[in-house]
Amino acid sequence: MHETLKKLYRDHANFYKLMDLLEAELNTLESQGGAASELMKELIAYTRNYSDSIHHPIEDHLYQLILSRTDDGKEDMERLLGHHQILMQMTRELDQALTSGVPSAGFVTEGRGYLSQQREHMKFEEEKAFPLLRNHLGAVDFEYASSALPADEDPLLDPLMKEEYPNLFSALNKS
Ligand SMILES: [Fe+2]
Ligand SMILES: [Fe+2]
Repeated sequence: MHETLKKLYRDHANFYKLMDLLEAELNTLESQGGAASELMKELIAYTRNYSDSIHHPIEDHLYQLILSRTDDGKEDMERLLGHHQILMQMTRELDQALTSGVPSAGFVTEGRGYLSQQREHMKFEEEKAFPLLRNHLGAVDFEYASSALPADEDPLLDPLMKEEYPNLFSALNKS
C-alpha cells in the first residue's frame, strides 16, 4: 500500500480517537452545563486545521482523479466530495459556537450530529473509497499528496501539538 494511503488510514484512526474524546466532552457538558472545556475548543480547532484543511483536500484530489479515470464508484466519489463540504461547514459552525461564549442549548445535539456524520463518513471512505484508490491510482498519483501529510507515525503525539493544543495533547496521552 502506498505511504499516502497508509497515512489516510492513520489519520482516520486518530480522528476516531478524537471523536471518542469529543463524545465524552459533550456528555460532560450535557450533565454539568456551563462553558465548553478548553479541550473541546482545541479538539474542534485541530479538526478544522488538520482534517478540514489537509486531510479532506487531499482526499478530494484523489477522488477527482478516480472520477477522471473510471465510472467505478462514481456516485460514491461524488457523495464523498459533497460530504466534505458539509463536514467543513459543520466544523466551522461548531468552532464559531465555541468561541462565542457559553454554547447554546442545541449545541450538544449539534455536536452529536457532527460526531455521527464524521464516523459514518470515515467508515464509508474505508469501505468504498480507499479500495478504489488502491486499485486505480499509481505511485505518481499518490506522490502529489504525500508531502502535505505529516510523516510522523502519530502526528497527534508531535511535540508541536503540545504547544498548540496542550489540553488535547494531555488528554490523548492519558488514554
Ligand atoms: Fe474524507
Ligand atoms: Fe478521510
